[in-house]
Amino acid sequence: MTDYTALSARIDALVEGIDDEIARMATVVCELHHSDARFHWTGFYRVTAPDLLTIGPYQGTHGCLVIPFARGVCGVAARTGQTQVVDDVEDFPGHIACSSSTKSEIVVPVFGMDGAVMAVLDIDSDDPAAFDTADARALEAICARVFGRTI
Ligand code: SME
Repeated sequence: MTDYTALSARIDALVEGIDDEIARMATVVCELHHSDARFHWTGFYRVTAPDLLTIGPYQGTHGCLVIPFARGVCGVAARTGQTQVVDDVEDFPGHIACSSSTKSEIVVPVFGMDGAVMAVLDIDSDDPAAFDTADARALEAICARVFGRTI
């Protein structure tokens, strides 16, 4: 299990003074991905047009390049503004399989300073039911700090 307190402090220190959102996303993804053996694909999808997500910084094998809000776990998180924890991707209607090894995933909506969803953070695991509400709350808090610009 990730030590989210230490991870969050590291991210704070790294992004302090950096305004560029892509640089912030790349830093968050790198720190997250290497912090936990459960994380097999870690990345952001950015809202680049109304109802459209486009791949942003990520670590892992190739991710799908674009995801309409109407599709996938990422689309539900972007549409509803609610974190999605999926224990078994086979049971999630409309799940988009970027990798056949993925068993579970978590998708956290990322809100910009205007309060609108500006991206989603997607973490996939090859382990079943890898994520729980503690992961959800910790990842939401990191995204709120980094992209709500309290740091
Ligand atoms: N599984 C996601 C798509 C993104 S990839 O897994 C990297 C979804 O269903 O939205």
